[in-house]
Amino acid sequence: MSVPQTMMAWTKTEAREGGFEQIEHPVPKPAFGEVLIKTLSTSICGTDLHIWKWDDWSEENVPLGTITGHESCGEVVALGEGVTTHSIGDMVAIECHLACWSCPRCDEGNAHVCENGSIFGVHTNGAFAPYFTIQAVNARHVPAGLDSGHASIQDPLGNAIHTITGGPIEGATVAIHGLGPIGLFAVNAAKALGAKMVIGIDWDNTYRMELASKVGADLVLGKGDDIASRIFEATEGRGVDNSCEFSGSPVALSNCIRSTRLGGYVNVLSVYGQQEPNVPMNELVFRYLHLKGINGRKMWSTWDTMHELLEKGAIDVDAILTHRLPVSRFIEGIQLSSSGECGKVVLDF
Ligand SMILES: NC(=O)c1ccc[n+]([C@@H]2O[C@H](COP(=O)([O-])OP(=O)(O)OC[C@H]3O[C@@H](n4cnc5c(N)ncnc54)[C@H](O)[C@@H]3O)[C@@H](O)[C@H]2O)c1
Ligand SMILES: [Zn+2]
Ligand SMILES: [Zn+2]
Repeated sequence: MSVPQTMMAWTKTEAREGGFEQIEHPVPKPAFGEVLIKTLSTSICGTDLHIWKWDDWSEENVPLGTITGHESCGEVVALGEGVTTHSIGDMVAIECHLACWSCPRCDEGNAHVCENGSIFGVHTNGAFAPYFTIQAVNARHVPAGLDSGHASIQDPLGNAIHTITGGPIEGATVAIHGLGPIGLFAVNAAKALGAKMVIGIDWDNTYRMELASKVGADLVLGKGDDIASRIFEATEGRGVDNSCEFSGSPVALSNCIRSTRLGGYVNVLSVYGQQEPNVPMNELVFRYLHLKGINGRKMWSTWDTMHELLEKGAIDVDAILTHRLPVSRFIEGIQLSSSGECGKVVLDF
């Protein structure tokens, strides 16, 4: 396949809300150990919305002029020197945590929190572009026959699986707080992994609450409910075995801790904004809870679990992937994602 010299790519060019332009860049050349990917699909993540809004975190982390986008699937079209794991034509999906593979965290199997880590499409040029380069190890082979849009959402699906597997699932009662795209994947994956009961909780997003029922939630609760007492009612007064927090709301974190059974598990993927959550510590202590922060995906056990589920067709990606747009409609995709009237939004190339 002939690769062009230049490409048009969505680029954060101005330090303000919006501030994206489609501008010309050279098509990158794969360095030692890297592959060049021709993009097929890239999905929009909450992180992309932060970069769109240009909040304090974005200003500190994203250099102006960066091509963003990190949840992607594409085809290998060139190999850098030293790459033996990939061939031209391979379909791959991206793990966005770039690791050094030689620090103590990488050595112990926690490369997702590498001491020298960075994030593809945040700290480096990413995948809202027709071509990008990445370390070969981060380009994960895709289960055979998987649609590119379905392959592109493995970053958030992997987040969901990493979070729920922080506690028991098979035969367990699981509560998913926050039914954004990641929470929806968590509801669906918890059912696929054999949860006895899954309770989905949102605040007021009825579109997503309905979707949660569709993908397997046994009970869905919202702002009109006393969350903790409804969860106790549904679990013979015990509380759930495994509470997972995907909303970013301090109230939801507190609900998680108050409605988990004695000796149970609370797994938190959420990132909290300006307001530091007020954690009911005595509940946590006297209920003997295991509280765990979750970041990224385990490299590579989360990917292995995810591939098994995708290969079996156990994840209803079609239901959660509610919108697909051509990449030319990037701005509309961002606005749709911001509105919350959607599950996952994917841009196709
Ligand atoms: N740690 C990581 O590696 C990592 C990676 C990706 C995303 N995240 C974080 O995970 C979270 C989920 O991401 P997303 O894109 O699915 O989120 P999202 O913002 O699209 O969805 C959050 C949902 O929570 C709901 N909500 C608000 N208040 C609530 C409450 N009190 N109780 C229950 N639900 C409530 C909202 O209505 C919304 O539907 C975000 O906080 C995001 O920043 C963390
Ligand atoms: Zn993401
Ligand atoms: Zn490392």
